[in-house]
Amino acid sequence: MTKPRSIIIDTDPSPDDAVAFLIALGSPNELELLALTTVGGNVSLEQTTINTLKALELVGRTQIPIYMGADRPLKRELITAPEVHGNTGFEGYDLPEPKGKAASGFAPDKIVELVMQNEPNSITICAIAPLTNIALALQKQPKIAKRLQEIVLMGGSRSEGGNVTPAAEYNIYVDPEAAEIVFNSGVPITMIPLDCTHKALSTDARLEKLRAIGTPHMEAFYHLLKFNRIFDSEKMSLDGGPLHDPTTIAYLLKPEIFKAKKVNVTISTKSELTRGMTVVDWWGQTGLPLNTNMLYDLDSEAYYDLVIERLALATG
Ligand code: RIB
Ligand code: CA
Repeated sequence: MTKPRSIIIDTDPSPDDAVAFLIALGSPNELELLALTTVGGNVSLEQTTINTLKALELVGRTQIPIYMGADRPLKRELITAPEVHGNTGFEGYDLPEPKGKAASGFAPDKIVELVMQNEPNSITICAIAPLTNIALALQKQPKIAKRLQEIVLMGGSRSEGGNVTPAAEYNIYVDPEAAEIVFNSGVPITMIPLDCTHKALSTDARLEKLRAIGTPHMEAFYHLLKFNRIFDSEKMSLDGGPLHDPTTIAYLLKPEIFKAKKVNVTISTKSELTRGMTVVDWWGQTGLPLNTNMLYDLDSEAYYDLVIERLALATG
């Protein structure tokens, strides 16, 4: 059996983030979760850290270290998303206040430490939040760019348009300068944009299937995901809300359920109209380097089956 792949997940939990790191924990033969790093995003840094602690305590997996990172973007004010995720980011089900705390150490420093301490090409970062921590780690120690195996990030969009502005998806919109650093870093990048995640909907049938597992944590996530889908499903008149972030883990577990294309991606940082837009050179017209493996489609039924199967196994 091959050694599990070592990953670090950078996160700003709303429920889709939590499902991402819990399905990683439910896949011990394939993935080893070295650490979770939190960042200001959907809600404040303090709240994303509380939500991360709550999710790990819900499934009894409190041995995973959590390191707190940046509370705001590199050069801009933090824009949270209470209209989507509620004020706590975990609306829909009351989880008990966490007993534990984050570990000491600043997330970007801990990312550098883990990457420099482990074998080259042995650590993958799954980035499911604004990219501030990742950019700071690359600035602190540029050598990690050649040591990282891959960055798998949920963010951006090609022809789907944005979910914050007509041009930009939230994770890139919040810190476009950080995204520019990451996409120009030379690290192998797999990007999962809205074009893909908007096909991965938490429909009633899928949520009922999840609830039918019958354990307390699946009941909790049934309610959390039911709340989490309201904003997008109403805005886009869909029969469910996109389950964005677990696509990064599903890609590591079953890449075959996705369709991919190598493209150049550049980030718009200068114009307020297109702030955070991921400009995807689908037809290779710029001649710029193919810096991104972009996943543009998925088998949504296979994706949701995998999510339910591995989420059910997340308990320690
Ligand atoms: O645009 C979707 C992204 O924004 C996801 O990571 C979701 O968790 C929110 O952070
Ligand atoms: Ca997220």
